[in-house]
Amino acid sequence: MKWRNRWLKREREELLNRRKDRDLTKTVEEVFDYITLGHLYRLETRGVLWEIKGVVSSGKEARIYWAKSRKGEDLAVKIYLSFTAEFRKSIRKYIEGDPRFENVSKNDFRKLIYEWTRKEFRNLKRLREAGVRVPNPIAFQGNILVMEFLGEKGYRAPLLVEVVDDLDFDDLLSIWNDIKAQLKKMICDAGLIHSDLSEYNIMLWKDRPWIIDVAQAVHINHPSSRDFLERDLRNLNYFFGKRLDIHKDIELLRGDVLECLRKKDHNL
Ligand SMILES: Nc1ncnc2c1ncn2[C@@H]1O[C@H](COP(=O)(O)OP(=O)(O)O)[C@@H](O)[C@H]1O
Ligand SMILES: [Mg+2]
Repeated sequence: MKWRNRWLKREREELLNRRKDRDLTKTVEEVFDYITLGHLYRLETRGVLWEIKGVVSSGKEARIYWAKSRKGEDLAVKIYLSFTAEFRKSIRKYIEGDPRFENVSKNDFRKLIYEWTRKEFRNLKRLREAGVRVPNPIAFQGNILVMEFLGEKGYRAPLLVEVVDDLDFDDLLSIWNDIKAQLKKMICDAGLIHSDLSEYNIMLWKDRPWIIDVAQAVHINHPSSRDFLERDLRNLNYFFGKRLDIHKDIELLRGDVLECLRKKDHNL
């Protein structure tokens, strides 16, 4: 194991040298705990991250940063910072019944947060592969997820809720039709239910809707998947229904996805 220690030492020294003139996190407030910093530096040595440029959004549990890759590409870095009692409680319903969490003790919060991050990465991957428009996942490490940045020059793209009043009828109709198609792909091809789908988790970029925030998405075999699906449909119906006549559409959509679910159950 000597080579490994030598290699680690060299890697560390190289990192320290490089950091003399460029700090990975220099433009960002000192909010990272020691362990998160370790994961950030690991992403740096893996060649994924080069520099964190600034905060994009600061939620209760996660912060999103605009960052740069070594090649200068824009990245979005989602860091799960705190694991409050409230958050632990709120994610319980998604974790229970998911085999991916079977071996994680409920009291091992660090492990739980790592598994949560990994789940978001894998959900993004699975959705991408099924052709759903979500940010391209690039890497994960501990409590940190790195993905494609939706936006330009450090300015994130808007959420649907932020621009809805500026959209004309045709724009909104085409967004709704697009979301219907994405929802079908998500369920029928990727076998996932988003479980938090709303105008707050849809971004508009390059004139198209992009679906984000998929950590809580569950597999269709999850015991509560049908309830989560109904909630997603309710959210969409409420938001789009205020502006478009989608009454029939939503019933057709429900029928289509339930048909997919029946077929999938049958094939199990
Ligand atoms: N890939 C991305 N590119 C640019 N901005 C993003 C990206 N993902 C999320 N954001 C921004 O960060 C906010 C929070 O991200 P989200 O994944 O919804 O986390 P949460 O809602 O759990 O805090 C979003 O509302 C959006 O404004
Ligand atoms: Mg969100």
